[in-house]
Amino acid sequence: MEDGLNLWSSFLTNDGRLIHKWKHYFPIYERHFREFVYKPVTFIEIGCGRGGSLQMWKRYFGPHARIVGIDILPECKEFEEDQIEIRIGAQQDLQSLENVIAEFGAPDIVLDDGSHVMSHVIASFQFLYPRVAKNGVYLVEDLHTAYWEEYEGGLRKPTKFIELSKNLLDELNADDSVVVFEKGLHTKKWAPQIGGH
Ligand SMILES: C[S@@+](CC[C@H](N)C(=O)[O-])C[C@H]1O[C@@H](n2cnc3c(N)ncnc32)[C@H](O)[C@@H]1O
Repeated sequence: MEDGLNLWSSFLTNDGRLIHKWKHYFPIYERHFREFVYKPVTFIEIGCGRGGSLQMWKRYFGPHARIVGIDILPECKEFEEDQIEIRIGAQQDLQSLENVIAEFGAPDIVLDDGSHVMSHVIASFQFLYPRVAKNGVYLVEDLHTAYWEEYEGGLRKPTKFIELSKNLLDELNADDSVVVFEKGLHTKKWAPQIGGH
């Protein structure tokens, strides 16, 4: 896709179910998800909220995409529609995740927007990441909670997802030898809720 603003426009003009996303995530989504547009992508979103993000992913990825939502709340089942399937289970329940993988196969993309509790985020990542398709993407949102005690976070706490990610950096750099810093501007951070019926 040459038009990098499709996802952002789709969010801003949403009149479907409610979506709740931070604005600054959108350039990140475009950068990492764009190559999957119009492909037969299997996209898992942990955390369905009010169902709007699932519809946004369906609009973005196109007619061949299979969008799978995972949530602990049974009422999320009502978000099912053509191309969108919902499975009920906790993201830290590995049997539930195993069932999803057995049913849908290797996901191309996993987006974790579930409980944001560190042990849950880590459990899902450790189980799902090895099962993501080659050249796939695993994105975890709202990791400010990695610094919040009520989400099992805390600065440099070894059991949080940020520390796990730092350790993976060591594994990568032991072999890859390169670090690239990209400079960019920060603008006001804001998480609008758009749509809703
Ligand atoms: C922030 S909302 C998701 C918002 C939605 N993705 C959006 O962008 O509009 C978080 C969702 O995660 C679900 N959730 C909370 N704890 C969970 C868990 N342990 N496993 C799976 N889902 C969970 C909640 O029920 C809620 O629907």
